[in-house]
Amino acid sequence: MELRTAIIGMGKMGRIRKHELDIHPGFKVIGVCDLYEDFSEEFSDCLFFTKWEDVFSLNLDVVFVCTYNNISPDIVCTALENNCHVFCEKPPGRSVSDVNRIIQYESKAVNKVLKFGFNHRFHYAIMEAKSAIDSGRYGKILCARGIYGKAGGLGFEKNWRADKDIAGGGILIDQGIHMLDLMRYLVGDFVEVKSFVENLYWKKINMEDNAFVLMKTENGQVAMVHSSATQWKHKFSLDIFLENGYICINGLLTSTRSYGEESITFAQKQFEDKAQAIGRPREETIFFDRDDSWRLENEEFYACIIEGKKIHHGNTEDALKVMELIEKIYQKSGS
Ligand SMILES: NC(=O)c1ccc[n+]([C@@H]2O[C@H](COP(=O)([O-])OP(=O)(O)OC[C@H]3O[C@@H](n4cnc5c(N)ncnc54)[C@H](O)[C@@H]3O)[C@@H](O)[C@H]2O)c1
Repeated sequence: MELRTAIIGMGKMGRIRKHELDIHPGFKVIGVCDLYEDFSEEFSDCLFFTKWEDVFSLNLDVVFVCTYNNISPDIVCTALENNCHVFCEKPPGRSVSDVNRIIQYESKAVNKVLKFGFNHRFHYAIMEAKSAIDSGRYGKILCARGIYGKAGGLGFEKNWRADKDIAGGGILIDQGIHMLDLMRYLVGDFVEVKSFVENLYWKKINMEDNAFVLMKTENGQVAMVHSSATQWKHKFSLDIFLENGYICINGLLTSTRSYGEESITFAQKQFEDKAQAIGRPREETIFFDRDDSWRLENEEFYACIIEGKKIHHGNTEDALKVMELIEKIYQKSGS
């Protein structure tokens, strides 16, 4: 079945989504929309709109929302009202109240699928980590440590991400949200939070460029997250320590390759009675050369639409819980 699809917001993510939808046999992109009319030439294979409300004249099955954070909840709600299945990029708006509004519209939309783009769950290293944790061979998780950092960059202070009214928050809501979602996904829900949310360098943006977070689950597992826009060399690392060993993810395959090669290392804990060396256990490392996360996200979304199943990755509960966590992190830091 071919789903009549429109994409709203044709910047970086809109283009990635269009490329992926064009090669998926189940979606037919019939319309795209962006504020910049100049983009229309690039998308001559479908109808081009400059007002997002106008795409609903197309009798659509599906809408992809790839705009700025301030407008995405309005578009999601309108799309649900217009009987469309909806895929929305992270973050799911700027606040918990945005997500609650979306949930109200979702509850009124009959048999409509709503998915948010937490694509990191579909990176191969993350999928390997999840299946190793779930296998139980390393025992229970004790603690985890995640670092996700980027450099800001030349246009950083002029980008929409630097405008609080549009973005809703700084690096934490933009990039840190992925690491928080992964922590929830791999470790569990956090009931206690301590944080420093700081503006250390990008003074003109008037929002955080670094967030340091400590979180604890009901079972006492502790996770530590550092989200940064002053990580001058891009970095993604996620270490998970379990009763019987550890799992370390380093690097993340992205289009720019700036986060380095994606790898996962597994080891069973090993004491000196087994190996004559303390703290240097035998490790197994797997490297990945493909990022299929966008394709795999589309596949889950399509399968849920066609088979009437519930979204497992990036459903509204995930969206709500991660936004609640973000608000708690801001509150605890007093920012
Ligand atoms: N999953 C990921 O890893 C990932 C990566 C990057 C961005 N994102 C998310 O995707 C979204 C878009 O980010 P981006 O990097 O593509 O930004 P971008 O600036 O490259 O593109 C956004 C586009 O939306 C358009 N737009 C904004 N308001 C609009 C409106 N009212 N009507 C029509 N078009 C409108 C802009 O003109 C722009 O072209 C953001 O929510 C961002 O957080 C997700």
